[in-house]
Amino acid sequence: MSDAGTAPDRYALMGHPVSHSWSPFIHGMFARATAQNMQYRLIDVTPERFRSDAVQFFLDGGRGLNVTIPHKQAAAELVNDLTARAEEAAAVNTIMSNSDGELVGDNTDGVGLVTDLEQNLALALAGQRILLLGAGGATRGVLGPLLERRPALVAVANRTLERAVRLVEAFRDRGLLLATGFADIEPVPFDLIINATSASLAGTVPPLPAATIGPQTVCYDMAYARGDTPFTRFALEHGAGAAHCGFGMLVEQAAEAFFVWRGVRPPTAPVLAALAAGAR
Ligand code: ATR
Repeated sequence: MSDAGTAPDRYALMGHPVSHSWSPFIHGMFARATAQNMQYRLIDVTPERFRSDAVQFFLDGGRGLNVTIPHKQAAAELVNDLTARAEEAAAVNTIMSNSDGELVGDNTDGVGLVTDLEQNLALALAGQRILLLGAGGATRGVLGPLLERRPALVAVANRTLERAVRLVEAFRDRGLLLATGFADIEPVPFDLIINATSASLAGTVPPLPAATIGPQTVCYDMAYARGDTPFTRFALEHGAGAAHCGFGMLVEQAAEAFFVWRGVRPPTAPVLAALAAGAR
């Protein structure tokens, strides 16, 4: 129930930069839909100040933080405790304080991606051949939840092969995984190709062999933009069956964070519709 008259519970996103974030809009819609008395704002924090500002936020009565680039690893080191999925990801995007006043770090990125793929895009991941591009923090955060869905194969392709090898090694008991450089990716169409590189942020596309994309291939960019990203444009130009950018993942990871904080699962369809309509 909304308790008009009492001060709203305070939440925020810390990142650098954060000014273009959609998170206040998304959490604002969630709060209205579920009648939660809360506010959510953006806090731009440099790496030098992240640790002290995050702790101060909670000392001042803040209830929960989201954390984004470039602080996700620092957040994992800052908190007193990690959830299993945050420990596996070695990164934190959601912080809450428990009843003892300790900070607990969670990671909702992987669940956000898998929920978007399965529920919003109606893709069944079991038995699929998945190609994951990149071997940085974004890949690490989604690898566990993807492998839980029992795909036939997850190939991790990275510009720096060594990073892909290390990541595959860390998850090797969890399913059929292989590490590859871009030039050596098996030249047959994959069922699903996920771009987890930061190439889109620089307006470029990873050097993906065109033979990996076929008319049944679904391409997904974890980055998002109005219209196409460089990767979704590249995918469609090379005959992909479908190409999606990461708005759905953004909304679903936010919904999971909202659930972790408030114990209420917000409806995501209206938010997705609003974003698709370009509303803000
Ligand atoms: P994040 O937390 O976003 O994953 P990161 O840990 O810095 O950030 O990782 C960035 C990923 O994008 C890496 O896999 C990087 O490849 P390298 O490990 O070889 O550096 C990849 N990447 C960045 N720019 C790229 C580009 N232009 N082409 C291909 N891969 C790129």
